[in-house]
Amino acid sequence: MSTMLDTYQDSATIKSLEREQSTYLKAELKAGFPRYIETRNHELKIKTNIIDVGSISTNELNACLDLIDHNLGAIYARLHGPTWKMDKIKEMKDSGLIYILLKDNSTEVSSKLAGFLSMRILVDGDLSVLYLYEIQLDKAYQNNKIGSQAMKHLSTIPDKINMNRRYLSRFYPLDGISLTVFSDNLGALKFYQAQGYKFSKMSPRDKKLKDKTVEKPPYYIMIKYSSAAYL
Ligand SMILES: CC(C)(COP(=O)(O)OP(=O)(O)OC[C@H]1O[C@@H](n2cnc3c(N)ncnc32)[C@H](O)[C@@H]1OP(=O)(O)O)[C@@H](O)C(=O)NCCC(=O)NCCS
Repeated sequence: MSTMLDTYQDSATIKSLEREQSTYLKAELKAGFPRYIETRNHELKIKTNIIDVGSISTNELNACLDLIDHNLGAIYARLHGPTWKMDKIKEMKDSGLIYILLKDNSTEVSSKLAGFLSMRILVDGDLSVLYLYEIQLDKAYQNNKIGSQAMKHLSTIPDKINMNRRYLSRFYPLDGISLTVFSDNLGALKFYQAQGYKFSKMSPRDKKLKDKTVEKPPYYIMIKYSSAAYL
């Protein structure tokens, strides 16, 4: 499948179309996400702040990079070498990205970054998807259902975008939500599978070697399809 983004070669036009998609995405996220995420610990108040990449401050971006480093820095360094952070920060500034900052508003004084999600709409092979670039929670906030609540709200977004006639008059409907997960990140793999994500046809797969051992690719691509009614 191709979208309007494939039809034009010139990069200024592509950028402008990406900006337009990102405006639709941000509007649906703002409508679809509650101001506060419910958590297992009822004393925790996690506030959602939905902003586009152009509006995120350097401090916030660095705090997001620190979370990635604390959670997955060892895997990134092993797979991409010691300079992985330079590539990551570049990726984190990709045009069209929308961030959902999760701030701990439990106390009057603090507004600590508890985690974040980042995403954009893109074409992956023949699929048009909402691509989740990151979901990262500070270790102190993990296992409180914040991640699964955020994913639950996110899962409603493709269908909502697909019901928007103005969006559909400009772009192909979204096939679903896609994401990349390191094959060594077993916790996250289990987490996504529990949310109904499956390996995408675009995903690298395990290889069975002659000696019957299994060689895992560095990462998998997973997808949760939109409801078929809109496709
Ligand atoms: C993965 C992550 C987003 C999950 O969010 P969370 O709020 O901690 O997860 P939840 O409390 O919603 O857990 C939901 C279920 O996911 C599973 N799960 C989550 N994290 C897990 C882990 N590290 N190991 C094993 N299972 C895990 C559990 O089965 C849990 O179910 P249960 O407690 O009801 O049995 C969060 O732990 C995180 O930020 N991890 C580090 C960064 C990361 O790996 N991000 C994903 C990159 S692809």
